[in-house]
Amino acid sequence: MNRDLGPFREDMVYEGDALDLLPQVPDGIVDLIVTDPPFAIDFKAQRLNYNRTGSHVLEGYREIPGEEYGEFTRRWITEAARVLSPEGSMYIFSGWNRLRDILEGVDEAGLTTINHIIWKYQFGVFTKKKYVTSHYHILFVVRDPKHYTFNKIEHYPEDVWVINREYWKGRKKTPTKLPSELVKKILDYSSNPGDLVLDPFLGSGTVAAVARDGGRHFLGFEVVPEYCAFARESLSRKPGRR
Ligand SMILES: C[S@@+](CC[C@H](N)C(=O)[O-])C[C@H]1O[C@@H](n2cnc3c(N)ncnc32)[C@H](O)[C@@H]1O
Repeated sequence: MNRDLGPFREDMVYEGDALDLLPQVPDGIVDLIVTDPPFAIDFKAQRLNYNRTGSHVLEGYREIPGEEYGEFTRRWITEAARVLSPEGSMYIFSGWNRLRDILEGVDEAGLTTINHIIWKYQFGVFTKKKYVTSHYHILFVVRDPKHYTFNKIEHYPEDVWVINREYWKGRKKTPTKLPSELVKKILDYSSNPGDLVLDPFLGSGTVAAVARDGGRHFLGFEVVPEYCAFARESLSRKPGRR
C-alpha cells in the first residue's frame, strides 16, 4: 500500500526528539503503535540491576525530569492518537511509578482502554524491606472501541503475560530492551502483514526489528544517537542474529 508519510519513509529509523518528529507524521496513517516511553525516575542508579556486567550496557539513555513528565506524556500521547488510523491501536508500557500520567494522557487524548495487561518478568534483585518489582503495565488502547484489529490467536487470551527478559551474553545491549517474544505477541494480535507499526521511543530497535520480521512496515524515532546507530545496525542483520 502506498502511504504518504510526509517527510518520512517506511522502514526507517529517524534520530530526533519524538515531540518534534511526531507532529510531522500525517494524520491517521499508523495502524499500530507499540512503545515503551522514557521513565521519570533516576534510572542510572538502577542500571546495574538490569545487567550485572555494566560494561555491556550502552550508555546515553535519555530520561525525563520528574516535574516535566506529566506535560511530556500528554504531548506525545495526543500526537500518537492523531497519527493512529481510525481502526488503529496502541500498546503503552509503563512502570507503576508514573502510571497515573499515562492513564491521564490516554483519557485526555480521547482513547479507549481495552485492556490493562500485566507483563510479569524475572528480576533477580535482593530486597530487604519491600517486594521485588517484577511486572510492568501495558495499556492496550484504541481510537474506536467498535472497530480495531484483534486477531484472536489463543482461545483464552489472558491479560497476565509471563515472558522473561532476554540475556545477551557478551554483547552490548540497551538496559531496557523489550523481549522480542513480547513484541511479537502484540504484533500478532493487533496488526496484519503490510500494516505500519510506529515506535516513537525506539531504543535498541526491538519493535522495528520484530515488525520487519513479521512482514509489517515500521517507523522508529529515537533521540540518542548511539541507540539509533545500535537499532540500525541490528536491523541490518539477518533475523535471529540480533
Ligand atoms: C524505555 S526505552 C525503549 C526501549 C525499547 N523498547 C527497546 O526495546 O530497546 C525509551 C527510549 O526513549 C528514548 N527517548 C527518551 N526521550 C525521547 C524523546 N524525547 N524522543 C525520542 N526518544 C526518546 C530513550 O533514549 C530510550 O532509548
